[in-house]
Amino acid sequence: MGHVKSVGVEQDPASAAVAKARAPGALIHEGDFFQWAVHTEARYDCAAGNPPFIRYQIFKGEVRKRALELCNQLGANFSGLASSWAPFLVAAGSLLKSGGRMAFVVPAEIGHAPYAAPLLEWLTGRFARVQIVAVREKLFPTLSEDCWLLYAEGQGGQTDHIEMTVLDRFKACNAPPRPDLRISMADWRGIWNRRLRPFLMAGRHRELYRASIEAEGTRRLSETASVGIGYVSGANSFFHLRRSDVAAWGIPRALLQPAIRNGRALPASVLTKADVTRLEQEDAPIFLLRLTRGMKLPAGVRRYLDSAAAQEAKTAYKCRMRDPWYAVPDVKTPDYFLTYMSGRQIGLVRNEAKATCPNTLHCVSFRDASGATDLHAARRTPFFQLSCEIEGHPLGGGMLKLEPREAGRIALPSAGTLSRLDAELAGEAVTELQRWRHYTADQRRLRA
Ligand SMILES: C[S@@+](CC[C@H](N)C(=O)[O-])C[C@H]1O[C@@H](n2cnc3c(N)ncnc32)[C@H](O)[C@@H]1O
Repeated sequence: MGHVKSVGVEQDPASAAVAKARAPGALIHEGDFFQWAVHTEARYDCAAGNPPFIRYQIFKGEVRKRALELCNQLGANFSGLASSWAPFLVAAGSLLKSGGRMAFVVPAEIGHAPYAAPLLEWLTGRFARVQIVAVREKLFPTLSEDCWLLYAEGQGGQTDHIEMTVLDRFKACNAPPRPDLRISMADWRGIWNRRLRPFLMAGRHRELYRASIEAEGTRRLSETASVGIGYVSGANSFFHLRRSDVAAWGIPRALLQPAIRNGRALPASVLTKADVTRLEQEDAPIFLLRLTRGMKLPAGVRRYLDSAAAQEAKTAYKCRMRDPWYAVPDVKTPDYFLTYMSGRQIGLVRNEAKATCPNTLHCVSFRDASGATDLHAARRTPFFQLSCEIEGHPLGGGMLKLEPREAGRIALPSAGTLSRLDAELAGEAVTELQRWRHYTADQRRLRA
């Protein structure tokens, strides 16, 4: 990037020195980009960059405050969860001359993160053309993050669609690649939950999903059930007891509830009382100690609460924050357990054993029985997996994650719609989305 009239901003002195050496004719400012962007009066023909991807947990302090304030003034309202790169694009876009253009490396999260939506709204409201280039193979093989590219031109204009190019691998070129798709903002907002990720699938796959969610009788899981996280004990090894502990301390059974501590302990389809008995016989730490505020504590429990393990557990942050420290809140007995981090497929297991679970699993509890029937019919079908792939998001390392709000969007078609669905086509779509999240054929074979 050695254009003589180019200007760069880099806050790290070593990286700024590299930029100066590589672009001797350019003016490189050393410091915070947002501070510079707020004050500069210069306007540019082009902006290009590879912005830092700093997650909201680390993107803090003055720099973040300045960045979000500036975006607010410019009309882009990011929630507190925005990663740093999105404000970089807004600030850079605002420094362009009318008709100007920009090109940036962006994380693939632009295809699904909630905070990507205000950015895309902002860009389409200020540029005549906005194009996303999705690249399946890693642009930077040493980084864990998948990267895509964003190109916008015609600053000062606006558009009612996003253009998208879907590439298997990046090839250097001196103009943006030909767009494959023209995505209307109305569809992106209305049908696709303001996500570009569904556009990685072939059109026939999207049509299948769209037709199924629009079919009469299709409901979202949240319309019939609540999906939430399991309890947070604060000290799992203290609150989960083995049968031998229960006997040694003399803890009454009435104060214990079977608890499944992670997806690995779950059977494939139904958790039965017999499964719990087996775990109990294996002396697995399967009993959650359920105590409540104000209850009269039996002698065995009092002894356990005075033990060395209890003294340590008490100091854990979550225990210190509640009163009394030993009453674990929000213990649910869900109808289904849902695994929310998965390789091949999301696990959904019926809870016949009336067990509970900590926040390593999600809890699904139905408000009406018909929802449970629909879920039961759908859960083994490729369509259900497709819905999980579309409503969830890739987490890196081949994994798919479903937040509770995403799980709430899982589509439950009526039995009639489900029987008419082309299962092979849905299976193909699942494989395609798994390829994009790098769940490879090898992993598929290993786990099959
Ligand atoms: C992904 S790296 C890109 C480095 C280089 N421009 C390239 O493309 O190879 C992001 C760069 O942004 C810099 N950076 C992070 N926060 C910044 C800020 N607030 N202002 C200016 N530069 C920043 C980092 O020091 C880092 O060098």
